Amino acid sequence: MKAEGSLRVGFLGAGLIATYHSKMLRRFVSEIRVPLVRAGVYDPDPDLSRAFAAASGHQALTTEEAVINGCDVVYVCTWTSEHPRLVAMAAAQGKAIFCEKPLATTLADAIEMERVVRAAGVVNQVGLVLRHSPVFNLARELVQEPEAGRVMSVVFRDDQFIPIQGHYASDWRADVTKAGAGTLLEHSIHDLDLLEFVVGPISAVSGRTANFHGWPGIEDVATAQIEFRSGAMGSLTSLWHDNLSRPSLRRIEIFCERRLVTVEGDWDGPIRWQDADGHDETLVGDALIKAATPIVEAGFNPDVAFLRAVQRGEFAQPDMAVAVRAQRIADAIYRSAENEGGRVQVG
Ligand SMILES: NC(=O)c1ccc[n+]([C@@H]2O[C@H](COP(=O)([O-])OP(=O)(O)OC[C@H]3O[C@@H](n4cnc5c(N)ncnc54)[C@H](O)[C@@H]3O)[C@@H](O)[C@H]2O)c1
Repeated sequence: MKAEGSLRVGFLGAGLIATYHSKMLRRFVSEIRVPLVRAGVYDPDPDLSRAFAAASGHQALTTEEAVINGCDVVYVCTWTSEHPRLVAMAAAQGKAIFCEKPLATTLADAIEMERVVRAAGVVNQVGLVLRHSPVFNLARELVQEPEAGRVMSVVFRDDQFIPIQGHYASDWRADVTKAGAGTLLEHSIHDLDLLEFVVGPISAVSGRTANFHGWPGIEDVATAQIEFRSGAMGSLTSLWHDNLSRPSLRRIEIFCERRLVTVEGDWDGPIRWQDADGHDETLVGDALIKAATPIVEAGFNPDVAFLRAVQRGEFAQPDMAVAVRAQRIADAIYRSAENEGGRVQVG
């Protein structure tokens, strides 16, 4: 039986990111302010399902349908190629959906997913979690302040060890039929989204990719020249190496007319800004989080924000429309790379 006002949460996929979301729900349950019922979990690997259930209190079920039927909210945390089918199943049942990024292995599938959830009218959110990050929200605010002047350029570097090893240990990321592509789609979809979130709409790209590891279709270097609608120009370098001492490190320099903003790290900085009048300030850790707290309306925790939106029947952010936009930019970069770096407009 479902208690009045409670939300039954189910999981499709019981791997790394499902475990992370489940831990977040447990840790921040008091902030969600709605009774959560740990409903079903399904993973085709029954050992994983059972281990997830034992650790989280969810019930290990044997089919996707059983999970979807028995929940109000479903987390789609499978490898990427399974997202479209499972999202369509959940939307057909009117369930609220949190789907991991990237939405799909192709842009066409991602567009269709967004259409399906919009038609079904279900609350949906995606795993572009860095939109909730204190440091990127503060960076966005700093570049939008009038004293910064206009953004002229951005240099974005994102490097990570290739995630078929280390704590990811996932074979599927080396399989193009499951992952769709390599570092740009699987990892730097976050970066493409952040570039628009922090700097503004992208109008055109040109890109190149390389493949050092040799997994077919899985590029491990992607570089892109980025043109923004505002006239700003930038670059992105995304790579997967074998240096396991660097799990995922982003460094972003945003050059404005009268301010340079430098970000390192994904969450609590450091962030430094240097102004034309000599002001030079760095924030990191708790001080940064305190400064960003009034800026991030929905709060820093994406899972809390999602479940609160579901409870209120409100629009959640970032939703699938946002994810389609990031995938559209990735697709344009891949098309450019196929054409030796030719310029491709982003619609
Ligand atoms: N938001 C983020 O920052 C972030 C971080 C890591 C992963 N991800 C994304 O999350 C997804 C999963 O990544 P992961 O690291 O957890 O991978 P993982 O390999 O740890 O887990 C994926 C699981 O999905 C299961 N699965 C496959 N098909 C299924 C189906 N039809 N029903 C139920 N389960 C199924 C697999 O057996 C596997 O256990 C990917 O799309 C990935 O890109 C997002």
